[in-house]
Amino acid sequence: MFRTVFRCLRTQPVAGQRSMSQSSLTGKVAIVTASTDGIGLAAAQALGKRGAHVVVSSRRQANVDRAVSLLQSQSIQVIGTTCNVGKGEDREKLVQMTLDKYGGIDILVSNAAVNPFFGNMLDSTEEVWDKILAVNVKCSFLLTKLVVPHMEKRGGGNVIFVSSVGGYQPMPALGPYSVSKTALLGLTRALAPELAQSNIRVNCVAPGIIKTRFSEALWQNEDIMDEFKKQLCIKRIGQPEEIGGVIAFLCSDEASYITGETITATGGMSCRL
Ligand SMILES: NC(=O)c1ccc[n+]([C@@H]2O[C@H](COP(=O)([O-])OP(=O)(O)OC[C@H]3O[C@@H](n4cnc5c(N)ncnc54)[C@H](OP(=O)(O)O)[C@@H]3O)[C@@H](O)[C@H]2O)c1
Repeated sequence: MFRTVFRCLRTQPVAGQRSMSQSSLTGKVAIVTASTDGIGLAAAQALGKRGAHVVVSSRRQANVDRAVSLLQSQSIQVIGTTCNVGKGEDREKLVQMTLDKYGGIDILVSNAAVNPFFGNMLDSTEEVWDKILAVNVKCSFLLTKLVVPHMEKRGGGNVIFVSSVGGYQPMPALGPYSVSKTALLGLTRALAPELAQSNIRVNCVAPGIIKTRFSEALWQNEDIMDEFKKQLCIKRIGQPEEIGGVIAFLCSDEASYITGETITATGGMSCRL
Protein backbone atom coordinates (compact mmCIF):
# COMPACT_ATOMS: atom_id res chain seq x y z
CA MET A 1 0.00 0.00 0.00
CA PHE A 2 2.82 2.44 0.94
CA ARG A 3 4.47 1.73 -2.40
CA THR A 4 1.26 2.73 -4.19
CA VAL A 5 1.05 5.98 -2.21
CA PHE A 6 4.71 6.86 -2.91
CA ARG A 7 4.26 6.05 -6.60
CA CYS A 8 1.18 8.28 -6.67
CA LEU A 9 3.06 11.17 -5.01
CA ARG A 10 6.01 10.75 -7.40
CA THR A 11 3.81 10.77 -10.49
CA GLN A 12 1.36 13.41 -9.17
CA PRO A 13 3.44 15.86 -7.16
CA VAL A 14 0.72 18.54 -7.25
CA ALA A 15 -1.85 16.17 -5.75
CA GLY A 16 0.67 15.38 -3.01
CA GLN A 17 1.18 19.07 -2.23
CA ARG A 18 -2.55 19.65 -2.17
CA SER A 19 -3.29 16.98 0.39
CA MET A 20 -0.51 18.35 2.62
CA SER A 21 -1.82 21.91 2.38
CA GLN A 22 -5.27 20.79 3.48
CA SER A 23 -3.95 20.68 7.03
CA SER A 24 -2.36 24.10 6.54
CA LEU A 25 -4.39 25.57 9.40
CA THR A 26 -2.29 23.75 11.97
CA GLY A 27 -1.48 26.12 14.81
CA LYS A 28 -3.69 28.92 13.49
CA VAL A 29 -6.04 30.57 15.97
CA ALA A 30 -9.62 31.09 14.79
CA ILE A 31 -12.47 33.07 16.35
CA VAL A 32 -15.90 32.08 15.03
CA THR A 33 -18.90 34.07 16.24
CA ALA A 34 -22.33 32.51 16.78
CA SER A 35 -20.64 29.13 16.67
CA THR A 36 -22.59 26.92 19.04
CA ASP A 37 -25.01 25.76 16.35
CA GLY A 38 -25.61 25.65 12.61
CA ILE A 39 -23.15 27.19 10.16
CA GLY A 40 -20.90 28.70 12.87
CA LEU A 41 -20.48 25.36 14.60
CA ALA A 42 -19.79 23.67 11.27
CA ALA A 43 -17.18 26.33 10.48
CA ALA A 44 -15.51 25.79 13.86
CA GLN A 45 -15.50 22.07 13.16
CA ALA A 46 -14.04 22.45 9.67
CA LEU A 47 -11.29 24.81 10.88
CA GLY A 48 -10.54 22.61 13.91
CA LYS A 49 -10.32 19.45 11.82
CA ARG A 50 -7.67 21.21 9.73
CA GLY A 51 -5.62 21.86 12.85
CA ALA A 52 -6.74 25.32 13.95
CA HIS A 53 -7.28 26.20 17.60
CA VAL A 54 -10.85 27.45 17.66
CA VAL A 55 -12.70 29.82 19.94
CA VAL A 56 -16.45 29.26 19.92
CA SER A 57 -19.03 31.64 21.34
CA SER A 58 -22.67 32.60 21.46
CA ARG A 59 -25.03 34.31 23.89
CA ARG A 60 -25.88 31.32 26.10
CA GLN A 61 -23.39 29.56 28.37
CA ALA A 62 -25.23 26.22 28.08
CA ASN A 63 -24.86 26.34 24.29
CA VAL A 64 -21.18 27.23 24.58
CA ASP A 65 -20.57 24.30 26.95
CA ARG A 66 -22.37 21.89 24.62
CA ALA A 67 -20.39 23.05 21.57
CA VAL A 68 -17.06 22.88 23.40
CA SER A 69 -17.79 19.30 24.56
CA LEU A 70 -18.83 18.24 21.08
CA LEU A 71 -15.71 19.67 19.43
CA GLN A 72 -13.43 18.28 22.16
CA SER A 73 -14.95 14.83 21.55
CA GLN A 74 -13.73 15.23 17.96
CA SER A 75 -10.18 15.97 19.17
CA ILE A 76 -10.43 19.63 18.20
CA GLN A 77 -8.44 22.21 20.22
CA VAL A 78 -11.22 24.48 21.45
CA ILE A 79 -12.18 26.98 24.09
CA GLY A 80 -15.46 28.85 24.45
CA THR A 81 -17.06 31.90 26.02
CA THR A 82 -20.34 33.74 25.93
CA CYS A 83 -20.38 36.64 23.48
CA ASN A 84 -23.37 38.56 22.27
CA VAL A 85 -21.77 40.26 19.27
CA GLY A 86 -24.07 43.24 19.75
CA LYS A 87 -22.30 44.16 22.99
CA GLY A 88 -18.95 45.94 22.85
CA GLU A 89 -17.73 44.54 26.18
CA ASP A 90 -18.53 40.99 25.00
CA ARG A 91 -16.56 41.48 21.78
CA GLU A 92 -13.59 42.77 23.76
CA LYS A 93 -13.84 39.85 26.20
CA LEU A 94 -13.86 37.38 23.29
CA VAL A 95 -10.72 38.87 21.78
CA GLN A 96 -8.91 39.19 25.12
CA MET A 97 -9.72 35.60 26.12
CA THR A 98 -8.39 34.36 22.78
CA LEU A 99 -5.14 36.29 23.26
CA ASP A 100 -4.78 35.08 26.87
CA LYS A 101 -5.33 31.41 25.97
CA TYR A 102 -3.77 31.13 22.52
CA GLY A 103 -1.44 34.14 22.27
CA GLY A 104 -2.68 35.57 18.97
CA ILE A 105 -5.40 35.62 16.30
CA ASP A 106 -5.14 34.46 12.68
CA ILE A 107 -8.74 33.95 11.58
CA LEU A 108 -12.05 35.71 12.24
CA VAL A 109 -15.31 34.20 10.97
CA SER A 110 -18.01 36.80 11.54
CA ASN A 111 -21.11 34.65 11.36
CA ALA A 112 -23.66 36.12 13.78
CA ALA A 113 -26.86 37.61 12.40
CA VAL A 114 -30.36 38.43 13.54
CA ASN A 115 -33.65 38.73 11.75
CA PRO A 116 -36.43 40.13 13.93
CA PHE A 117 -38.74 41.00 11.00
CA PHE A 118 -40.80 39.20 8.33
CA GLY A 119 -43.16 41.13 6.10
CA ASN A 120 -43.53 44.06 3.75
CA MET A 121 -40.56 46.42 3.85
CA LEU A 122 -42.78 49.43 4.50
CA ASP A 123 -44.04 47.84 7.70
CA SER A 124 -40.50 47.61 9.15
CA THR A 125 -39.69 50.06 11.92
CA GLU A 126 -36.64 52.10 12.83
CA GLU A 127 -35.94 49.67 15.71
CA VAL A 128 -35.92 46.75 13.28
CA TRP A 129 -33.44 48.51 11.00
CA ASP A 130 -31.24 49.61 13.90
CA LYS A 131 -31.05 46.06 15.28
CA ILE A 132 -30.45 44.32 11.95
CA LEU A 133 -27.82 46.76 10.72
CA ALA A 134 -26.11 46.91 14.11
CA VAL A 135 -25.73 43.16 14.63
CA ASN A 136 -25.37 41.96 11.04
CA VAL A 137 -23.15 44.72 9.65
CA LYS A 138 -21.75 47.19 12.18
CA CYS A 139 -20.65 44.54 14.69
CA SER A 140 -18.98 42.53 11.92
CA PHE A 141 -16.90 45.59 11.13
CA LEU A 142 -16.20 46.47 14.77
CA LEU A 143 -15.02 42.94 15.53
CA THR A 144 -12.79 43.03 12.46
CA LYS A 145 -11.33 46.32 13.68
CA LEU A 146 -10.57 44.72 17.04
CA VAL A 147 -8.74 41.70 15.62
CA VAL A 148 -6.77 43.33 12.79
CA PRO A 149 -3.91 44.66 15.00
CA HIS A 150 -3.42 41.15 16.38
CA MET A 151 -3.42 39.60 12.91
CA GLU A 152 -0.84 42.18 11.88
CA LYS A 153 1.39 41.05 14.76
CA ARG A 154 1.21 37.50 13.29
CA GLY A 155 2.14 38.78 9.82
CA GLY A 156 -1.35 38.33 8.30
CA GLY A 157 -4.66 36.57 8.60
CA ASN A 158 -8.11 35.90 7.23
CA VAL A 159 -11.47 37.55 7.79
CA ILE A 160 -14.63 35.80 6.58
CA PHE A 161 -18.10 37.35 6.61
CA VAL A 162 -21.21 35.19 6.35
CA SER A 163 -23.69 36.83 3.98
CA SER A 164 -26.60 35.09 2.21
CA VAL A 165 -28.04 34.39 -1.21
CA GLY A 166 -30.51 37.09 -0.09
CA GLY A 167 -27.63 39.56 -0.30
CA TYR A 168 -27.73 39.18 -4.09
CA GLN A 169 -31.41 38.46 -4.58
CA PRO A 170 -33.50 39.93 -1.75
CA MET A 171 -35.79 37.27 -0.31
CA PRO A 172 -39.56 37.81 -0.10
CA ALA A 173 -40.60 39.13 3.34
CA LEU A 174 -36.94 39.42 4.39
CA GLY A 175 -36.19 42.89 3.01
CA PRO A 176 -34.16 44.51 5.84
CA TYR A 177 -32.25 41.26 6.51
CA SER A 178 -31.44 40.89 2.80
CA VAL A 179 -30.21 44.49 2.62
CA SER A 180 -27.91 43.86 5.60
CA LYS A 181 -26.49 40.84 3.79
CA THR A 182 -25.90 42.97 0.66
CA ALA A 183 -23.99 45.38 2.88
CA LEU A 184 -21.61 42.56 3.84
CA LEU A 185 -20.69 42.09 0.17
CA GLY A 186 -19.75 45.77 0.16
CA LEU A 187 -17.88 45.52 3.45
CA THR A 188 -15.84 42.65 2.02
CA ARG A 189 -14.95 44.68 -1.06
CA ALA A 190 -14.22 47.85 0.92
CA LEU A 191 -11.92 46.19 3.45
CA ALA A 192 -9.99 43.88 1.13
CA PRO A 193 -7.65 46.48 -0.45
CA GLU A 194 -6.97 48.21 2.87
CA LEU A 195 -6.12 44.98 4.69
CA ALA A 196 -4.16 43.44 1.82
CA GLN A 197 -1.32 45.75 2.85
CA SER A 198 -1.21 43.81 6.12
CA ASN A 199 -1.38 40.43 4.36
CA ILE A 200 -4.94 39.94 5.60
CA ARG A 201 -7.42 38.47 3.12
CA VAL A 202 -11.10 39.41 3.44
CA ASN A 203 -13.69 37.14 1.90
CA CYS A 204 -17.34 36.30 2.24
CA VAL A 205 -19.63 33.29 1.86
CA ALA A 206 -23.21 33.59 0.66
CA PRO A 207 -25.10 30.41 1.58
CA GLY A 208 -28.41 29.40 0.01
CA ILE A 209 -30.96 27.64 2.21
CA ILE A 210 -29.12 25.61 4.82
CA LYS A 211 -30.84 23.30 7.28
CA THR A 212 -30.47 25.13 10.61
CA ARG A 213 -32.76 26.54 13.27
CA PHE A 214 -32.40 30.01 11.72
CA SER A 215 -34.09 28.88 8.51
CA GLU A 216 -36.61 26.39 9.90
CA ALA A 217 -39.57 28.61 9.01
CA LEU A 218 -38.52 28.05 5.38
CA TRP A 219 -37.60 24.37 5.29
CA GLN A 220 -40.47 23.24 7.50
CA ASN A 221 -42.98 24.73 5.09
CA GLU A 222 -43.54 22.30 2.20
CA ASP A 223 -45.06 24.90 -0.13
CA ILE A 224 -42.12 27.27 0.32
CA MET A 225 -39.66 24.42 -0.16
CA ASP A 226 -41.38 23.21 -3.34
CA GLU A 227 -41.07 26.73 -4.70
CA PHE A 228 -37.38 26.96 -3.71
CA LYS A 229 -36.59 23.52 -5.14
CA LYS A 230 -37.66 24.75 -8.55
CA GLN A 231 -34.78 27.22 -8.35
CA LEU A 232 -32.20 24.68 -7.15
CA CYS A 233 -29.98 22.64 -9.48
CA ILE A 234 -29.16 20.32 -6.58
CA LYS A 235 -32.66 19.38 -5.46
CA ARG A 236 -32.16 19.56 -1.71
CA ILE A 237 -31.33 22.17 0.89
CA GLY A 238 -27.75 22.43 2.11
CA GLN A 239 -26.17 21.16 5.30
CA PRO A 240 -24.10 23.43 7.60
CA GLU A 241 -20.98 21.33 6.87
CA GLU A 242 -21.25 22.31 3.21
CA ILE A 243 -20.67 25.93 4.25
CA GLY A 244 -18.07 25.12 6.92
CA GLY A 245 -15.87 23.54 4.25
CA VAL A 246 -16.05 26.64 2.04
CA ILE A 247 -15.06 28.84 4.98
CA ALA A 248 -12.10 26.59 5.84
CA PHE A 249 -11.01 26.64 2.19
CA LEU A 250 -11.08 30.46 2.11
CA CYS A 251 -8.89 30.55 5.25
CA SER A 252 -6.38 28.09 3.84
CA ASP A 253 -3.30 28.68 1.69
CA GLU A 254 -5.18 27.05 -1.17
CA ALA A 255 -7.13 30.32 -1.39
CA SER A 256 -3.99 32.49 -1.12
CA TYR A 257 -4.87 34.55 -4.24
CA ILE A 258 -8.51 35.16 -3.28
CA THR A 259 -9.52 38.36 -1.51
CA GLY A 260 -12.49 40.72 -1.68
CA GLU A 261 -14.53 37.81 -3.02
CA THR A 262 -17.87 36.27 -2.13
CA ILE A 263 -18.39 32.58 -2.80
CA THR A 264 -22.01 31.56 -3.24
CA ALA A 265 -22.87 28.07 -2.00
CA THR A 266 -26.51 27.75 -2.98
CA GLY A 267 -27.06 24.37 -4.62
CA GLY A 268 -27.13 26.21 -7.93
CA MET A 269 -29.84 28.71 -7.00
CA SER A 270 -29.37 31.45 -9.54
CA CYS A 271 -28.51 34.76 -7.92
CA ARG A 272 -25.78 36.26 -10.15
CA LEU A 273 -23.94 35.61 -13.36
N1 LIG B 1 -29.52 28.82 7.56
C1 LIG B 1 -29.59 29.42 6.40
O1 LIG B 1 -30.37 29.00 5.50
C2 LIG B 1 -28.73 30.61 6.09
C3 LIG B 1 -28.68 31.05 4.77
C4 LIG B 1 -27.88 32.15 4.46
C5 LIG B 1 -27.15 32.77 5.44
N2 LIG B 1 -27.21 32.32 6.73
C6 LIG B 1 -26.41 33.03 7.72
O2 LIG B 1 -25.63 32.09 8.44
C7 LIG B 1 -25.34 32.62 9.72
C8 LIG B 1 -25.61 31.58 10.78
O3 LIG B 1 -26.95 31.17 10.70
P1 LIG B 1 -27.40 29.68 11.07
O4 LIG B 1 -28.43 29.32 10.06
O5 LIG B 1 -26.23 28.80 11.22
O6 LIG B 1 -28.13 29.94 12.47
P2 LIG B 1 -28.44 28.93 13.70
O7 LIG B 1 -28.21 27.51 13.33
O8 LIG B 1 -29.81 29.30 14.16
O9 LIG B 1 -27.34 29.34 14.78
C9 LIG B 1 -27.35 30.59 15.29
C10 LIG B 1 -26.17 30.72 16.26
O10 LIG B 1 -26.02 32.08 16.55
C11 LIG B 1 -25.97 32.29 17.96
N3 LIG B 1 -26.42 33.67 18.13
C12 LIG B 1 -27.61 34.20 17.85
N4 LIG B 1 -27.61 35.53 18.08
C13 LIG B 1 -26.35 35.85 18.51
C14 LIG B 1 -25.73 37.05 18.90
N5 LIG B 1 -26.38 38.23 18.94
N6 LIG B 1 -24.42 37.01 19.26
C15 LIG B 1 -23.74 35.85 19.26
N7 LIG B 1 -24.29 34.67 18.90
C16 LIG B 1 -25.59 34.67 18.53
C17 LIG B 1 -26.83 31.15 18.51
O11 LIG B 1 -26.52 30.77 19.85
P3 LIG B 1 -27.18 31.51 21.14
O12 LIG B 1 -28.64 31.35 21.02
O13 LIG B 1 -26.57 30.79 22.32
O14 LIG B 1 -26.72 32.94 21.05
C18 LIG B 1 -26.38 30.01 17.58
O15 LIG B 1 -25.14 29.49 17.98
C19 LIG B 1 -26.16 33.90 9.86
O16 LIG B 1 -25.32 35.00 9.54
C20 LIG B 1 -27.21 33.76 8.78
O17 LIG B 1 -27.67 35.01 8.31
C21 LIG B 1 -27.98 31.25 7.08
